[in-house]
Amino acid sequence: MKIAVGSDHGGFELKELIIRFLGELGQDVESVGCHSLDSVDYPDLAEKVCTAVRTGACDCGILVCGTGIGMSIAANRYKEIRAALCHEAFTAKMSREHNNSNVLCLGGRVIGTEIALDIVKTWVETEFAGGRHQRRLDMFS
Ligand code: RB5
Repeated sequence: MKIAVGSDHGGFELKELIIRFLGELGQDVESVGCHSLDSVDYPDLAEKVCTAVRTGACDCGILVCGTGIGMSIAANRYKEIRAALCHEAFTAKMSREHNNSNVLCLGGRVIGTEIALDIVKTWVETEFAGGRHQRRLDMFS
C-alpha cells in the first residue's frame, strides 16, 4: 500500500515518527512535507495529501497538525476524501470498517507517540467491511 503523509509544523515531529514506523511496517510512503518546525499553513499540506489520494497516486493518506482538527476540516472539503480524526485505535478501526476512511488525521499536540503509532497500525491494517456501509457511503457520494 502506498501512503501519502503530510503535516504542518504542529504535527512535524509526530509525522517524522510515523514515516519511520510505516517503513518498519513495510508500507510504501510518499512524504509531502513539511520539512521542519518552521511555520506553514495546514491547508497546503492537506491539499498535497488529498491530491495524491484523489488522483490514485497513493492509496490513502495520513495528515498531522497540532490538533488534527484543521487537517480534518481541510481534507473533508475534497469530494472523494473521507478523513477521520482519531484519538484512539477503536475509532480508527471503525473509520476503516464502517466509513472506508481514506485519510487519517492526528493531533500531534494531543496524543502521545505510543497511542499515535497504535492508531496508525490499526488504521493501515483494517479493511473496509462493505455491504450496508457502502450503501450508506453511496448516499452522500
Ligand atoms: C498551528 O499552530 C495549529 O493551528 C495547527 O497545527 C492545527 O492545530 C490547526 O488545526
